Amino acid sequence: MLLLCLAVLCLIASSPCAAAPPWNSVSELHSLFTASTKNKLLLISFDGFRWDYDRDVETPNLDKMAQDGVKAVYVTPPFLTITSPSHFTMLTGRYVENHGVIHNVWFNTTTQEKKQYYETQFVDSYWDNGSLPIWITAQRQGLKAGSLHFPGTAATYKGEIVRVRQVEPRFYDHSNETDWRLNIDKVIGEWFHQQDLDFVSLYFGEPDLAGHDYGPDSPERREMVQQVDRTVGYIRDKIQDHGLTDRLNIIITADHGMSKILRGGLVEEIVLSKIPGFSFRDIKFQLLDYGPVGMLLPKEGMLEKVYQALKGSHPHLRVYKKEEMPARLHYSNHPRLQPIILIADPGYIVNGFLPVNFNKGDHGFDNEDMDMKAFFRVVGPDFQKNLIVDPFDLVDVYPLMCHLLGINPEITDGHLDNTKHMLVPRENTGGDNKSKYLISELQLTLKSNHYEHFDQVYLI
Ligand SMILES: *[C@@H]1O[C@H](CO)[C@@H](O)[C@H](O)[C@H]1NC(C)=O
Ligand SMILES: *[C@@H]1O[C@H](CO)[C@@H](O)[C@H](O)[C@H]1NC(C)=O
Ligand SMILES: *[C@@H]1O[C@H](CO)[C@@H](O)[C@H](O)[C@H]1NC(C)=O
Ligand SMILES: *[C@@H]1O[C@H](CO)[C@@H](O)[C@H](O)[C@H]1NC(C)=O
Ligand SMILES: [Zn+2]
Repeated sequence: MLLLCLAVLCLIASSPCAAAPPWNSVSELHSLFTASTKNKLLLISFDGFRWDYDRDVETPNLDKMAQDGVKAVYVTPPFLTITSPSHFTMLTGRYVENHGVIHNVWFNTTTQEKKQYYETQFVDSYWDNGSLPIWITAQRQGLKAGSLHFPGTAATYKGEIVRVRQVEPRFYDHSNETDWRLNIDKVIGEWFHQQDLDFVSLYFGEPDLAGHDYGPDSPERREMVQQVDRTVGYIRDKIQDHGLTDRLNIIITADHGMSKILRGGLVEEIVLSKIPGFSFRDIKFQLLDYGPVGMLLPKEGMLEKVYQALKGSHPHLRVYKKEEMPARLHYSNHPRLQPIILIADPGYIVNGFLPVNFNKGDHGFDNEDMDMKAFFRVVGPDFQKNLIVDPFDLVDVYPLMCHLLGINPEITDGHLDNTKHMLVPRENTGGDNKSKYLISELQLTLKSNHYEHFDQVYLI
């Protein structure tokens, strides 16, 4: 930009440009500016990609990416380890009790109304609960952001939306590889290349569905991981084709892992209606049958009775009053959380009247459980190569993204200190000083040559 302005200035002043002394400095200055311009960033989530899913499948493209970049042993998702809460943690760097997207299901305890995952995407007040997703922060600070299918994309935040976006239709097939490639062509070819976006979040609904339907140990899940691997290869090829490899950082991660559910007479399932002393007549509102975590709002005066009936009723059911939830889960301090929270141990799910959830795999468990840990890989100009790093928390990805984009973060629960060792160390920290020095040198030279419009140019 500066180079262009100076060239225009040259024409106006109709001076012999080639003879003017500062041109070496100008090109040096220009390359300095180009070098200090922040790189673009692509955040990709493969839903339910457990940290170790690449261990029993050939994944040449993920292996290549690990060689070219950084691989974390795993990343710890926030609790509740389910899709919307965890993705909103990626986008805000806040724990679930702080951002308020406490479940995939929106509900109203007065009217008993519940909205499922897809419908909930359009309830602005549910998402816009005090935390701003990174797209909005980036836009406010002059960057261009986009999002494709990422949870939270459809909502409006403080009157603002992510300006470039694609929300999936209601009955979208989240597993279709052809569609995945069309989406990638759009994000890389149109959004990054043509429209010059700075940041895009891109979501894929697999291998979560394969893990639910067939279980995490199934051949179907392994096949889906190969589809993911092919997709990663396709993404990196597209980036190369558009000449973006040296200007685009990629983060690939996931919202949670997947655990095999135990059934078929092998175990005694958790069914609340069968628990002695527990009655649904004492319950005003219930959120049950959504996997390993349930919430109950007892009728007035019934809290203690319900709590005592459930506590210790099943060896694999943990029962908490909201305020006695372990602090490390960061899932107690929000008005949307109900007075009694039930958490099943790995392998179990919390059923209400009778078992209606027949998933072979599920998630939502305690984030200390290894099966809930998620995948994390990065590659790009700002990252080290062929490096394996220790685990960190998903909340720590947000400050890393803000740092990469050069934007000021909002209040966050994450820490850049936990992720910055993945970055290439900045060799020349005096870079800014050098630019300032070159600018002042230029200014002097130009002034002495009577380029009187220089101050104006400089302001641009
Ligand atoms: C739930 O419904 C009641 C009754 O219509 C309404 O007053 C309340 O604001 C609603 N709460 C939420 C969170 O939508
Ligand atoms: C977040 O939601 C809760 C409950 O729905 C509400 O009481 C609270 O005022 C909201 N906070 C903000 C900042 O939107
Ligand atoms: C996958 O998506 C493509 C492109 O939208 C479509 O033509 C094709 O029929 C889909 N395949 C299946 C199996 O649904
Ligand atoms: C910055 O540049 C000026 C002018 O060249 C120099 O005097 C100063 O020592 C530099 N400062 C640092 C921290 O490099
Ligand atoms: Zn998910």
